[in-house]
Amino acid sequence: MRQNRREALGQHFTVPSPKLYPFQWLWDSCFHAIILRHFDLDAARAELRAVLSNPLADGLLPHIIYWKDDYRLTNWGRERRGDVINAVWGVDGTSSLTQPPIIAEAVRLVLTAEWHEAFAYEVYPRLKSYYEALLRERDIDNRGLLGIINPDESGEDNSPRFDDLLDLPHTHTNDAHLDRRLALIAKNAECTFEERCMQQHFWVEDVPFNAIAAVGLDAMVWLAERLNDTDSARFFFEKARTIRTSMRTHMLSEGIFRTNAYRAGTYTPITAETWALFAPLYAGVATDEEALTIIEEYLLNEEKFWTPYPIPSTSLADPCYQVDGFWRGPTWIAVNWFVFYGLRHYGCTLIADELMTRTAKLLAHSGFREQYDPVTGAGFGASQFTWGGLLLDMERTSRASAPQRGRARRSQP
Ligand code: GLC
Repeated sequence: MRQNRREALGQHFTVPSPKLYPFQWLWDSCFHAIILRHFDLDAARAELRAVLSNPLADGLLPHIIYWKDDYRLTNWGRERRGDVINAVWGVDGTSSLTQPPIIAEAVRLVLTAEWHEAFAYEVYPRLKSYYEALLRERDIDNRGLLGIINPDESGEDNSPRFDDLLDLPHTHTNDAHLDRRLALIAKNAECTFEERCMQQHFWVEDVPFNAIAAVGLDAMVWLAERLNDTDSARFFFEKARTIRTSMRTHMLSEGIFRTNAYRAGTYTPITAETWALFAPLYAGVATDEEALTIIEEYLLNEEKFWTPYPIPSTSLADPCYQVDGFWRGPTWIAVNWFVFYGLRHYGCTLIADELMTRTAKLLAHSGFREQYDPVTGAGFGASQFTWGGLLLDMERTSRASAPQRGRARRSQP
């Protein structure tokens, strides 16, 4: 974490990986703050301050802040082949997309480690604008769910959940995928990132994005109450409830929550089996019975997700599974973090601990890599990648609740 720390224009933040990801990313910085809160609270607060410092005009937070003063002189406005990071976003110094809205929860976790009134008051207005903007701009059909306008907004750029809308077959080359994404960003730009216009090109109600939003809104309620903003507390409470209810109404089918893709006025459930199956657990949206089935039939199924080094981003049994495909197979540690908390929510602390133990083994085996082979544990992608640090958070959480004080409400499946 220290080696990846950077300072620019008076702000301090952490780059996910020095070579491959040398800028600031939205959900990465939330993970960083969650890690840093265990040993450097000043750095954790600085990280959140920095990521909140460049909102887009409508209040949304951009998924990348470039920070470099000279960024425009070097890369600005050029789409480099092999790199959607440097796309044309139509704004200065940041992207125009967002990422899963976990930031209020990151702020809550940092403030739970140590209450800091001035910091809470400082970040609250921008957090509020962000969640208000999401609720206002991203629920254009009044379905009580949030839509994303580009796969990158899910944080899972190449996930098979988005293949259908990108008109990609189950297996395709990285170049084919890149071409589709660059074309989509060009559409995003033509639409000036306006949602109704983008809906004609790409509009997805993604399960993890909405589950994470529900948890983020819970955190907004927590914060608003502490800052005596009763009206907002009530507003966010209602919205968190609406997202959960709508996830059940529009996403749940035969015990499984599915992402919906919009095309020509119709929402169609996406059947690709990815870790998104477990995201509802994180938000507590599944009933105990549903959670049990999801855990037993999918998570603990060795032919699907329970590999030596879980959790594969895409099920081993899915036709799209590709062991080294970006979000199409490999294990990413942030996924393990979400599922760890999801399991604990349903009292499955032993399984959560086993997931944590296997995550620790993975790090011991291959170090801090971006992704890993879920079967052999071999590392792929970026090096010196920060997300492995989330293991520290899992370990502290696990240790803080001794087994007998765990929230077990039922026997483990
Ligand atoms: C990749 C990941 C995304 C992450 C970014 C920086 O684009 O898909 O989730 O935020 O890298 O680490």
